[in-house]
Amino acid sequence: MQIAPFAIEQFFAEYEFSTPYLLCASDCETMTVAELLRLAEMSLSELGDLRLHYTDSQGSSDLRALIAAQYGAGNGRIEPQSPNALPVTAADIVVLTAPEEGIYLLMRTLLEPGDHVVVLTPAYNSLLNVAEHVSGNVSRWQIQATAVGWQLDLDELDRLLAAGAKLLIVNFPHNPTGLLPGAEEFEAIIALAQKHDVWLFCDEMYRGLELGGRETLPSAVTRYEKAIVLAGLSKVHGLPGLRSGWLVLRDAQLRADFINWKHYTTICPPSPSEFLALAGLRAQAQLTARNRHIIETNLETADSFFARWPGLFTWRRPQAGSVALVELHTPAVTAYCHTLAREAGVLLLPGEYIDYAAQFVRWGFGRVDFAQGLAQYDAYLQQSMPSAANAD
Ligand SMILES: Cc1ncc(COP(=O)(O)O)c(C=O)c1O
Repeated sequence: MQIAPFAIEQFFAEYEFSTPYLLCASDCETMTVAELLRLAEMSLSELGDLRLHYTDSQGSSDLRALIAAQYGAGNGRIEPQSPNALPVTAADIVVLTAPEEGIYLLMRTLLEPGDHVVVLTPAYNSLLNVAEHVSGNVSRWQIQATAVGWQLDLDELDRLLAAGAKLLIVNFPHNPTGLLPGAEEFEAIIALAQKHDVWLFCDEMYRGLELGGRETLPSAVTRYEKAIVLAGLSKVHGLPGLRSGWLVLRDAQLRADFINWKHYTTICPPSPSEFLALAGLRAQAQLTARNRHIIETNLETADSFFARWPGLFTWRRPQAGSVALVELHTPAVTAYCHTLAREAGVLLLPGEYIDYAAQFVRWGFGRVDFAQGLAQYDAYLQQSMPSAANAD
């Protein structure tokens, strides 16, 4: 049975390693193994001593305990705790061999053909496509563009869930718009999931990258019994090469079924990744602060760039995360992005590949060479369309 093309990954496969300036990457700046271990106060010789046996399918107990502690009070990760926060224990965690694996296997585990799924869109391809592939019955809860940002329509969500939904899929902070709901709005979404008794799959891959002093939302898993949370080290920590992530899956039967599915893909996490994931979590405070700082700095650079090209872009500044969806006022945006990559060595992701309106492109702000790439793009624009520049 065919599945829709994973358009984002296909686009990156074509350009990621041949285009010098990635202005649309969703991950943050990475580092070497040695740098990571230094930050985590762990030694390279410990890594050398690691034995490469099979590991616990659910993930090592040390790593799961450290992950579970993220969702408790006083963990240093700004976990806003209300008195009625639901506890998370190591038993609720399943370590993945990649965050992506969690999306694929959860849809396989939870959904049957015909089950109604509501997905927040635009979405990272797999959140939409795998659900569509398995259930064949997906409704889109579309984020609305406003003049200056993005907004959610809760009445629309209520209406969509009322049509007998089994699962609601959301992603906050949101890729690609950079939307972060307010605390009350987030509670209202949880309340709607509760009201309609649906499973809530909350992709929290960018949680911790709140910008402009905004608060981190509580994890959905501490707010709702039927919430299932995806998180990992690819974005916030800048460690995508580890392929490390986890699900928080509280329901024991669902968790057992999920692990059964996992035996058909990767069986267990790679031990070097588990070791380095421990390091990533120990160094979490430094990594998160560093990457938030990189994003904030790059956003300021982007602010002045967009001010210089007012007729060409509509800039909706992200509230959280490492990416934003920017309106680009040129004809044939997808073809434009391919030409830009080939002629200028600058990569922007066309909205069409996120199944979104064709005049949008995704930008990413997590890399240290962002300003250099932007200068390259600016020079290309000055040469190719000088009349679009702001004369001031
Ligand atoms: C929202 C979201 N969820 C999940 C993933 C998957 O993460 P990974 O590529 O590390 O498996 C991504 C990656 O871009 C993402 O943006």
